Amino acid sequence: MNTIFITGTSTGLGRASVKLFSERGWRVIATMRSPEQEQELGALPGVILKRLDVDDPASIVHVVAETLADHPVDVLFNNAGYGLAGPFEATSDEQIVKNVTTNLLGPLRVTKEFIPAFREQGSGVILTTTSIGGLVTMPFNSVYHAAKFGVEGWSESLSYELKPFGIRVKTLAPGGIRTDFSGRSLDQAGHEEYAESVAKAGRRFRDPSRDSTRSSAEEIAEIAYVAVTDGTDQITYVAGIDAQEHLRLREGLGQSGFVAESTRLFFGD
Ligand SMILES: NC(=O)c1ccc[n+]([C@@H]2O[C@H](COP(=O)([O-])OP(=O)(O)OC[C@H]3O[C@@H](n4cnc5c(N)ncnc54)[C@H](OP(=O)(O)O)[C@@H]3O)[C@@H](O)[C@H]2O)c1
Repeated sequence: MNTIFITGTSTGLGRASVKLFSERGWRVIATMRSPEQEQELGALPGVILKRLDVDDPASIVHVVAETLADHPVDVLFNNAGYGLAGPFEATSDEQIVKNVTTNLLGPLRVTKEFIPAFREQGSGVILTTTSIGGLVTMPFNSVYHAAKFGVEGWSESLSYELKPFGIRVKTLAPGGIRTDFSGRSLDQAGHEEYAESVAKAGRRFRDPSRDSTRSSAEEIAEIAYVAVTDGTDQITYVAGIDAQEHLRLREGLGQSGFVAESTRLFFGD
């Protein structure tokens, strides 16, 4: 039986992934911050709930050791994450540290605990949810981009050193997913000097016409499944029509052209 260890499974993409891998006969170590509140996932075939806050290094060490003592793990899926939006100048040090801790240090720390076991067994896949925002930029998301671009660079570099041990390192870079990410999973900062440009950009972010190109969590979970089972050395999986279009625009226009076009889209009248 294949085993996958997933972080951030209480809602959204993590939750959809638990269900998908369980349906396909996998053992799923579904980790979340508050497993005592979970009513449904623990009853699914092969699903084992564990408490894990990826901001807490001691709990990472403990949960990974406990998991590996019980079962070999084939796949680590670092999925926990949340957004931080607003002018950088207005962002508190606490907000920056927390966002980078969850989105960047979390995957690094969890992965570090799995590598010795993966190396010894001569196999393993490490998949981390980044975002299209790990490959292209949007205004007023600079800290989130710092973390997600960071994970993309870290993953690509790590892939060189782990490949000789049979370990594949991959990223899942979704566009918009219809989850509560822009509700409960979005921290925000505000500053009056930026109010007008934030309002303009906000119109673009909330444009209802963008809804039709967003994906469901189930659709993105399918791409996570492909990423961890296709047996290829592909590193980044750009997931969703919107994400693919966004990346094409960036690659087609180059940096200056892309920033000029994004400026027009977000701030043009
Ligand atoms: N939705 C989008 O449009 C979108 C687009 C691109 C990338 N993503 C990425 O997709 C991933 C999943 O997000 P989602 O869309 O599924 O949103 P979501 O439904 O809000 O899920 C976020 C999950 O991360 C968990 N989490 C947050 N901080 C955590 C921590 N310190 N330790 C453990 N778990 C933590 C949350 O758990 P709690 O219930 O405990 O808060 C929740 O389960 C994130 O990495 C996000 O950056 C989302």
